[in-house]
Amino acid sequence: MAESVTITDNRTGQSIEVPIVEGGVSASEWSKLLPGIWFYDPGFSTTAECESAITYIDGDAGILRYRGYPIEQLAEHSTYLEVAYLLLYGELPTAAQLGPWVDEITRHTYIHENMRKRFLDGFHYDAHPMGMLVSEVAALSTFYPEAKEIFDADLRHKQIVRLIAKMPTLAAAAHRFSVGMPFVYPDNSLTFPENFLSMMWKVAEPSFEAHPVLARAIDVLFILHADHEQNCSTTTMRVVGSAHADPYSACAAAAAALYGPRHGGANEAVLNMLTSIGTIDAVPDFVKSVKEGHGRLQGFGHRVYKNYDPRAKIVRDVAYQVFEVTGKNPLLDIALKLEEVALADEYFVSRKLYPNVDFYSGLIYQAMGFPVAIFPVLFAIPRTAGWLAHWVEMLDNKTKIARPRQLYSGSAERPYVAIGERG
Ligand code: ACO
Repeated sequence: MAESVTITDNRTGQSIEVPIVEGGVSASEWSKLLPGIWFYDPGFSTTAECESAITYIDGDAGILRYRGYPIEQLAEHSTYLEVAYLLLYGELPTAAQLGPWVDEITRHTYIHENMRKRFLDGFHYDAHPMGMLVSEVAALSTFYPEAKEIFDADLRHKQIVRLIAKMPTLAAAAHRFSVGMPFVYPDNSLTFPENFLSMMWKVAEPSFEAHPVLARAIDVLFILHADHEQNCSTTTMRVVGSAHADPYSACAAAAAALYGPRHGGANEAVLNMLTSIGTIDAVPDFVKSVKEGHGRLQGFGHRVYKNYDPRAKIVRDVAYQVFEVTGKNPLLDIALKLEEVALADEYFVSRKLYPNVDFYSGLIYQAMGFPVAIFPVLFAIPRTAGWLAHWVEMLDNKTKIARPRQLYSGSAERPYVAIGERG
């Protein structure tokens, strides 16, 4: 049988057959038959916005791959910078490519002194680090006006390197400002995750030595968060980028989307939930109250995964390694009990609700000393690689400016009413 669908306009009897290609049907074929009739799809839950060769997800099977490589293998063997290269350029770097790539990133970690002194100093003392990060990234476009040349290959590459390199510096600067600590300059002798931890935690020691287990944990979490195909922030990146905005402005918009609690804030919600549950004994009653419609089990369920989120399994293993160093986060036992009770409960099983990546990541971050407010910032650092990979793909595919349609449901035409006659 042909892989196609037939659409019939019952008003006219006209039909067209549209082939199913790569699991989708072309909307342009539809619009030939039915001009002016739009698909109504709020939240784009059944719309493929683009064709992409970057990340593959099979939500039913719990599969996630970057450029064909299973996330489990990347998390075990790779580094964040290697994965960033893979996402951006399509292949794992050879030894001859990796060295210069890491070197280039390392040499672009500094930020302009005006950004550090004047721009940051302008924030209120209790500014949220994610709000600061969004503004810092947007401000970078004014420091690098040549970033507008998005079709110049060398300049495009330069902005990509700058963005990936400077995100940890901007993130740590926002954190240090919000806790009243002096800025720590990047240390080029350190690896990417070590340097980030140094900029976060260094106090008066000549050089900061991150515990290798913690540095590796951060690198693995960065790998797991580097891309997740057409999520809200990545779609924002593509939409803003489709107007040919410079990459800093587009990344700032994507980061703003990530700031939303429905997207980048779930791990904070998990911690709050576990804290409010308080004890293992209280877990069954809490699950019962969720089933009765009082709130949601935070860190459970996913729009795409209808199986265990493959990242959540890896994060749970990383949590045990981190707790060996930091001591166990007391909330872990509550989380494990919650998972056990939920996964044995018909309500969660029948709705295919499993732990997602956020269920355990907040526990790790908290055990490592990160304040809750910086959790979305920790997400934005690695997701920058994914945003940029999609931005490049969108530009190279000569994507049209994003401009969806609407179904108008407002008033029909009516004459202007003078103010004295309005009832
Ligand atoms: N706890 C309890 N019930 C849930 C949960 C949950 N976490 N998630 C979904 N459900 C139930 C809904 O009540 C609904 O039940 P019903 O059919 O009886 O009405 C059913 O499962 C389907 O839920 P939807 O809201 O339609 O699923 P959707 O795909 O739109 O939502 C989402 C996905 C937003 C992630 C949801 O599962 C949720 O709110 N989870 C908690 C928040 C969270 O962990 N977010 C992080 C996502 S991962 C990330 O962004 C990095």
